[in-house]
Amino acid sequence: MPSLAVIGHPVAHTRSPDMQTAALAELKLAGEWTYGAIDIEPESFEVEVAELAAAGDYAGVNVTLPHKEAALALADEASEAARAIGAANTLTFSDGRIAAANTDAGGVLRSLPAGIDGGRALVLGAGGAARAAIWALAHGGEGAPDADGNPTLVPAFQVDVWNRTPERAETVAAELGGRAVTDPVGADYDLIVNTTSVGLHGEDPFEHLPIAAADLHADQVVFDLVYGPEPSALLAAAEDAGATTIEGLEMLVQQGALSLRIWTGEEPSIEAMRTGARRS
Ligand code: ATR
Repeated sequence: MPSLAVIGHPVAHTRSPDMQTAALAELKLAGEWTYGAIDIEPESFEVEVAELAAAGDYAGVNVTLPHKEAALALADEASEAARAIGAANTLTFSDGRIAAANTDAGGVLRSLPAGIDGGRALVLGAGGAARAAIWALAHGGEGAPDADGNPTLVPAFQVDVWNRTPERAETVAAELGGRAVTDPVGADYDLIVNTTSVGLHGEDPFEHLPIAAADLHADQVVFDLVYGPEPSALLAAAEDAGATTIEGLEMLVQQGALSLRIWTGEEPSIEAMRTGARRS
């Protein structure tokens, strides 16, 4: 019976087991596959993952903070996205070998409205989540299926990167395919992606981010990658302005769906995963 799990530290509040178990149930795999959570400290991550891979009962794991860089480092092989981003959130074990993938990148693209045009994107932040978003948007790739279930392609965006500490924006933009900016004009962007932790603790996003509520408009998509209190103040303002909004929970669902697809070869139900993630 293949096991799956999310590994993090801490991992107690993760929604992934409920979300993935809902997807497995919908695929009629719940009797066969299980998905749990394992708390592993950074010091023992490499040894414990090697043991899991060698033991043979785990098909793979999701990896979350603070292990995503270590997960890439210990893998025998890695996808192009994982290598470019420098982090992996999905490990697959087979015959004692470990393959790393980064489904955060694909998750960003599949969270966007199907059929979205490319154009100008502003990524706020320069941490791990920003790295995946910048690489994904600068390259484009598979998007959400259209209303008939057919695959769509997200075109590459021209990506501007703003960060509170500008040097980090320079570094990630140069590495991943964007351009660092210090004073962006929010209204000029087709897509604004917040990857900073601003708003998680009730801060006013417009005090800390380089955009004003008045910059937001109906021809924009605004994506708050971090999930916390819903809806975030940024998304509430975007909605008031008539923009299309995407909440962080969607990112969790989409990256998880891509991971499950890698392990099982099946296309999970996004709706079942949304419901499972909301329940926890
Ligand atoms: P993650 O890997 O989850 O993206 P991270 O590496 O800790 O997390 O990055 C957090 C991001 O939020 C950074 O871009 C950080 O900006 P700095 O690089 O200047 O630290 C940003 N951030 C956190 N608090 C912020 C605040 N009050 N105002 C603006 N940006 C903030």
